[in-house]
Amino acid sequence: MDQLPLPPHVLFFPLPLQGPVNCMLKLAELFCIAGFHVTFLNTDNIQRRLLRHTNIQSRLTRFRGFRFEIISDGLPEDHPRTGDRFIEMFNSLKVVAEPLLKEIITSGSLQGSDDVRPVTCIIVDGILDFPLGVAEEIGIPLIYFDTISPCCILVYLSIPKAIEAGELPFEGSDLDSPIRSVPGMEAFLRRRDLPSFCRDGVLNNPEMKLALSEDQRLPQAQGLILNTFKEIEEPVLSHIRSHCPNLYAIGPLHTHLKFRLAEEVGSQPSSSNSLWEEDRSCMTRLDAQPLKSVIYVSFGSLSVTTKKELMEFWHGLVNSGKRFLWVIRSNAIASEVWDRQTPAELAEGTKERGYIVGWAPQEEVLAHPSVGGFLTHSGWNSILESIVAGVPMICWPQYVDQQVNSRFVGEVWKLGMDMKDTCDRVIVEKMVNDLMEERRDEFMRSADQTAKLGRTSVSKGGSSSCNLDRPIEDVRLMSS
Ligand code: UDX
Repeated sequence: MDQLPLPPHVLFFPLPLQGPVNCMLKLAELFCIAGFHVTFLNTDNIQRRLLRHTNIQSRLTRFRGFRFEIISDGLPEDHPRTGDRFIEMFNSLKVVAEPLLKEIITSGSLQGSDDVRPVTCIIVDGILDFPLGVAEEIGIPLIYFDTISPCCILVYLSIPKAIEAGELPFEGSDLDSPIRSVPGMEAFLRRRDLPSFCRDGVLNNPEMKLALSEDQRLPQAQGLILNTFKEIEEPVLSHIRSHCPNLYAIGPLHTHLKFRLAEEVGSQPSSSNSLWEEDRSCMTRLDAQPLKSVIYVSFGSLSVTTKKELMEFWHGLVNSGKRFLWVIRSNAIASEVWDRQTPAELAEGTKERGYIVGWAPQEEVLAHPSVGGFLTHSGWNSILESIVAGVPMICWPQYVDQQVNSRFVGEVWKLGMDMKDTCDRVIVEKMVNDLMEERRDEFMRSADQTAKLGRTSVSKGGSSSCNLDRPIEDVRLMSS
């Protein structure tokens, strides 16, 4: 009897940060469901934290052919790995991983047994440039998965045009001046909505160089996977297609994975990929609150705030009189020791209506009926999770794609308010009241509609569902 051909073998390599690792793991799981062999390359720091805080080992190893591979990120164990040290982290990873990647793929160690093929395709984070050379040298296809927002990718791809038009560089003034070089965004994009590194007045800062290289890097890959859905970003996607024609918009990935697991494996196990210990006591606390009464506050995995900013938020939240659930990570406060003690004058207000945890099961929190708003740093995963849960947002962006994302939330999708460039207790109080009370009906209407579109896109026959079948088929063909 003829033997069935062995499945393709894909190596996934994420940027070692919470958001990118989270959605790359979800993508890898979707390829496992489709019957592929998968090797997932993590840094030792990420792997240790994943194993400590999740059930990932048992969840993924139930797929025959899934395995983790570990690589160093070259940083000392006590390095904070926060957003303000991103370039240091990126450069260190590059130095360590570039020579190792080829060795890992070609050494034969990933095959383990006769029924696993050598790696037939690499899927890497869109910001990593060096895997392109490795893939070319070995002669295997590479697909990029850009885990930040497509609207920001389009801004990155348009930077050369903005420089040519004299819109960049600029010093950090006149932040309301319009930017007209990003196609489709002429009517609403301002200097302040560009990534924060654009405010430096120079073109040679490391973040700008990385953004500029996107235009050369992405078109060299066999395809570009994006975590979005056509219904909210089609104009953006059509402009990106003029740079990278082979585009796969397959998001929102967290919902897509849940849907396919239910359809094809018949179960929906907890899919946490948290790098911190989740404090589940907040779920019990939420259970006891009235419908849509709580504002959830979280600034993601990388943000660093000053104690002064933190106190402005605190006063604003307490003065709003609304219930809140606030995530304050242990490494979230800039160079200061934070004892998590509520200042005496606020203790009463917080105890009554507020609850603070070090890390929450965010997807579950946003889906909880008592949550009615999200004060967020506007990281792309957080925005997609909030969209699918139908929760309106207040955006307080810091870096990378967050400035652009928050403009889209406020101005394009009408899913909430953009609070960028301010941190003032009176404004926080007003915006929280607007979101949760004064303008609640207006925001809830858009949030409900957009949530439905997101869920439909990943169900059978939906745009993202059909788009996911394409890379799965294309990788099969590339591997044959
Ligand atoms: C980074 C960048 O900051 C962001 O701009 C970019 O879009 C993606 O990469 P991060 O800061 O980690 O991401 O934010 P985000 O993309 O929102 O991802 C955070 C993830 O952590 C989300 O999936 C969220 O559900 C999870 N999370 C966050 C928790 O599980 N618990 C928490 O308490 C907070």
